[in-house]
Amino acid sequence: MMRYAHITGWGMAVPERVMTNHDIAQLVDTDDQWIRERTGIEQRRIAGPDETTGTLATRAALRALEVANLRPAEIDLIVVATSSPEHLFPATASIVQDRIGATDCGAFDLLAACTGFIYATNMAAQAIRAGSINNALVIGAETLSRLVNWKDRGTCILFGDGAGAFVLQGSDEPGGVLSSLLRSDGSGADLLTIPAGGSHIPASLHTVGNGLHYIQMNGREVFRFATRVMAKATAQVAEEAGLEISDLDLIIPHQANRRIIEAAARGLKLPLERFAINLNRYGNTSTASIPIAACEAIEAGQLHKDNKIVIVGFGAGLTWGAMAIHWTGPFPAKRKIYPRRYRTVARLRSAWRRSLRRVEGVIYGSKTIK
Ligand code: ACO
Repeated sequence: MMRYAHITGWGMAVPERVMTNHDIAQLVDTDDQWIRERTGIEQRRIAGPDETTGTLATRAALRALEVANLRPAEIDLIVVATSSPEHLFPATASIVQDRIGATDCGAFDLLAACTGFIYATNMAAQAIRAGSINNALVIGAETLSRLVNWKDRGTCILFGDGAGAFVLQGSDEPGGVLSSLLRSDGSGADLLTIPAGGSHIPASLHTVGNGLHYIQMNGREVFRFATRVMAKATAQVAEEAGLEISDLDLIIPHQANRRIIEAAARGLKLPLERFAINLNRYGNTSTASIPIAACEAIEAGQLHKDNKIVIVGFGAGLTWGAMAIHWTGPFPAKRKIYPRRYRTVARLRSAWRRSLRRVEGVIYGSKTIK
């Protein structure tokens, strides 16, 4: 029997704090009109002191589980796509797994920059289609505001914080993920990078002093690359799924720059109305931008059950990717699940496991391991 991977839940979370173009003009030599005209961005959300990639991811995940009507313990796999993980390790996915109380699953982070959400959704869908798992939680989450150089007007105007999540579930009913394309061209690795803080250039006074832990970008080159790949990748996955471009009800592109989306629309000969666009309010939230745009498209009545859509994105790497999806929505449920209610249990469970580890440490700590 063929297995299919359906998207049955979705959720988003953004910080409260809004930062407008006018606010940014207080920090660097720019103005609202320039940012609007060159990017389409009007404002973005910025994480508060208590918000992290993990807290935003957790909130988005719980909402997605609520829509899918799934208990955290029913999740088999959590993948967090992020370019701003909480740490180099452990994976932010493990932190989310603990916080939501997903007690019976694997968890890992995936790094493919802004294309990460498409990569992660594809990996989860493949695992479902292969029959090795049944329920997956895929999250795109970022706090890029912490990695941006607030003195560099070429980059600080672009990015925003937020998280979005999909629940994927297996079924014998055809539909869900129809086709996907993942690509990389590492010859452009230097065009968009955080040079230091990894193993190649470890943190030192020199790296910190010279701002090498911040995002560095050749905007013009990334722009040219993005306009080249978006339309082509969309057309490729549509064809592979047996769809005409005109069959597509909606395209959800990575929200980086309105002009890049306009170029894709021209390339595909589609009206701009066929594209989900919300970058004016959130800026570029990297891996979170596609699931956030999907949530808002559903909310706005732009995306419905049985729609044929494409999600498409690009980013550092260079990477790009696309996926054609037959949109399903939640499977019929016998009873209503409230995933948030499991949070207290998850917290107690986590505290219990920590205490147990401490007690074990006292008992076994003094003995040498043979
Ligand atoms: N305000 C005012 N002027 C500015 C600003 C600013 N914020 N930024 C740049 N300028 C100036 C430049 O200095 C330049 O001046 P010059 O001609 O005197 O040198 C002029 O504006 C034009 O600069 P360009 O870089 O050519 O401007 P462009 O139209 O390309 O817009 C932008 C720049 C918005 C960054 C654009 O290149 C872009 O969006 N690129 C794609 C970036 C992107 O999508 N990155 C995310 C990838 S996803 C990921 O993996 C994270």
